[in-house]
Amino acid sequence: MALHDTNIVWHQATVTKADRQRKSGHKSVVLWFTGLSGAGKSTLANEVERRLYEKGVRTYLLDGDNIRHGINKDLGFSPEDRTENIRRIGEVSKLFVDAGVVVLTAFISPYRADRELARSLVEADEFIEVYVKCAIEECENRDPKGLYKKAKAGEIPEFTGISAPYEEPENPELIVTTDAQSLDVCAEQVVEYLKKKIIFE
Ligand code: PPS
Repeated sequence: MALHDTNIVWHQATVTKADRQRKSGHKSVVLWFTGLSGAGKSTLANEVERRLYEKGVRTYLLDGDNIRHGINKDLGFSPEDRTENIRRIGEVSKLFVDAGVVVLTAFISPYRADRELARSLVEADEFIEVYVKCAIEECENRDPKGLYKKAKAGEIPEFTGISAPYEEPENPELIVTTDAQSLDVCAEQVVEYLKKKIIFE
């Protein structure tokens, strides 16, 4: 079977993204949280979503562990599978942006090229990369799921930061340092950025 059928044509919907954004009362963007395991991506994305929700913003959170139980349950942690994981999340995020929703994604997304691909799927001002920065020593100390311990004992192959790479963002829209700032400060930094960019009032 051909991967891309040339007999499939794009169908233009009558209701546009602009119509949906008007209905939402704000712009729609991707808030792409990236960082090491244990850096606090999920915790921060959750807190930001809660704050946005309380301000009346339409949101949806796509989270690594949850997505890997459903749409991406066929994928592991080889470089190829991580690339496919992020490609699918990028495509799903694009649909949410089209739906007029602020979508928050919390994935390690260790490869720069994969994050750039996700960025390229939406308009330039619709992708906000948030580097959730935390020293690996601190992630290892936190080790909320005991995974660093297992990885260091050789029980988890290709573990990010231990036996697989993490490519730091070079030009993220935002850097939040979870080993230096509180959750409250980090979350507010993200919310303030969105306000400044007039994504909502
Ligand atoms: S990726 O790299 O973006 O495809 O990973 P992601 O979909 O975000 O999934 C990361 C979570 O999976 C768990 N886990 C691993 N992480 C890294 N490397 C390996 N080998 C691995 N195996 C399992 C881990 O709990 C990650 O969750 P977080 O929330 O990041 O700690």
